[in-house]
Amino acid sequence: MKVLVTGSAGQVGYEVLRTAPLGMEVIGLDSQALDITDADAVAKVFAEVMPQAVINAAAYTAVDKAEAEPERAYAVNQSAVAHLGLACERLGIPMLHLSTDYVFAGDACAPYAPEAICTPSGVYGASKLAGEHSLAQVCSRHVIVRTSWVFGAHGQNFVKTMLRLAQTRNQLSVVADQVGGPTSAAGIATMLWQVLLQYQARGDLPWGTYHFSGAPACTWHAFAQAIFAQAVAIGLLAQAPVVSPISTAEYPTPARRPAWSVLDCSSLEQAFAVRPDDWQSALKAVLSELAGAPDARG
Ligand SMILES: NC(=O)c1ccc[n+]([C@@H]2O[C@H](COP(=O)([O-])OP(=O)(O)OC[C@H]3O[C@@H](n4cnc5c(N)ncnc54)[C@H](OP(=O)(O)O)[C@@H]3O)[C@@H](O)[C@H]2O)c1
Repeated sequence: MKVLVTGSAGQVGYEVLRTAPLGMEVIGLDSQALDITDADAVAKVFAEVMPQAVINAAAYTAVDKAEAEPERAYAVNQSAVAHLGLACERLGIPMLHLSTDYVFAGDACAPYAPEAICTPSGVYGASKLAGEHSLAQVCSRHVIVRTSWVFGAHGQNFVKTMLRLAQTRNQLSVVADQVGGPTSAAGIATMLWQVLLQYQARGDLPWGTYHFSGAPACTWHAFAQAIFAQAVAIGLLAQAPVVSPISTAEYPTPARRPAWSVLDCSSLEQAFAVRPDDWQSALKAVLSELAGAPDARG
């Protein structure tokens, strides 16, 4: 099967390329090779490549910056998703697309099911939700997977920020009143391939919106503590900094984040037999990879 992967240089895109199963012909295009906001360029690539499936790993992910440049966030996260979806519909092929826990308000106290009401509190979440709606409207063969707190050895994320800060500080303050599921980019990539392999086998899928995030849920503070404990254990850090818990109010950011955005992943598990990742094990793998590749730590 010939699979077009957009945003191939991002955290998830990179892992999608790296974990492609044998027998998949993967054409990965980064933002230089294909700007998904350029409808003509999208049409040209589809005509040239004639993909049999698309994984859209491209997105505008700068949560705080999105508050200042909503047009750009919507162009990438909604309009471009519609271009891609329409191109997929014309070819009658599936589009696998990622979205975010930030579509939710974060004021629930039970895990959010995919059909729970979405009330994003920032531009990023709103633009991703708009993209979900546009894709569902134009492309019948879509699988949208909302995920959360993505980390990996490649690209920028919380794990790498913590490791960088630990180089120069022995005390850090980390938010302890936001709860979510850290999710490895490699786990997301593997899940996407499992979905596509089922499509390859059956020629059909239970199309719709699903959730996939790491378990168990934790706070950013607990995540930071786990990062440092594991990094010290494998010799990536000489000493763990003291991590002080602070409230969201003590760490103001331009975009409001959901306080509690735990995702109920059971429907994905039922539909595709893919279980949520244990983020502690995934973290161990990422830190081991970083320990073996000093250049990737920055
Ligand atoms: N990161 C998270 O914590 C998180 C949490 C929940 C959900 N998600 C979702 O998961 C998916 C993957 O996220 P990620 O963490 O892999 O993001 P990422 O590391 O920021 O990668 C996104 C990629 O998209 C590319 N891109 C941006 N605009 C583009 C355009 N117009 N055309 C083509 N490519 C473009 C970026 O390229 P440039 O760098 O060159 O702009 C980047 O390589 C996204 O849908 C995101 O919304 C992420």
